[in-house]
Amino acid sequence: MSILKVSRMGHPVLRQKARSVERSEIKDPRFQKFIDDMIDTMHEYSGVGLAGPQVHEGLRIFVAMLDDGDDAEASVLINPVITPADSRVVEGWEGCLSIPDIRGRVPRAHKIVVKALDRQGRTVEIEAEDFPARVIQHETDHLDGVLFLDRMQTLTSLSYLDEYSRYHVRGGDDE
Ligand code: NI
Repeated sequence: MSILKVSRMGHPVLRQKARSVERSEIKDPRFQKFIDDMIDTMHEYSGVGLAGPQVHEGLRIFVAMLDDGDDAEASVLINPVITPADSRVVEGWEGCLSIPDIRGRVPRAHKIVVKALDRQGRTVEIEAEDFPARVIQHETDHLDGVLFLDRMQTLTSLSYLDEYSRYHVRGGDDE
């Protein structure tokens, strides 16, 4: 397995619409290795999510830590399609491995349903709310060339990580 190079804001790949992954591509050992590399890369940089374009691949796939617990495994979502499951929109802090050491408050749907393929090519449907729902929306945005800064209603909360830790909520992970 290998650690992949993470693209940073300004790289055109982060602004392009990623293409869908064919079911037949998923079983390819090279694609399976790519998934493992994405998971390793996410962990290496202490992220909670990582999308294809963030490792210079314009493919509709992301990996994310959606479940609680120390032994939780990374989820792999391919060709995700999100539907809001209630009308509530909530603001919360976000960061991004492609925008290092920056945090900002972003409004997101509180509860969603996401339909996708898993790494075996099976259709999965996941209902998520609060933080996992936020991560799924952030990562799916990456597949459409959208960064969390684009979703902020105002830039007044925009903070460097040090100042965020000092003056705002502690913790907070990069997506
Ligand atoms: Ni991100």
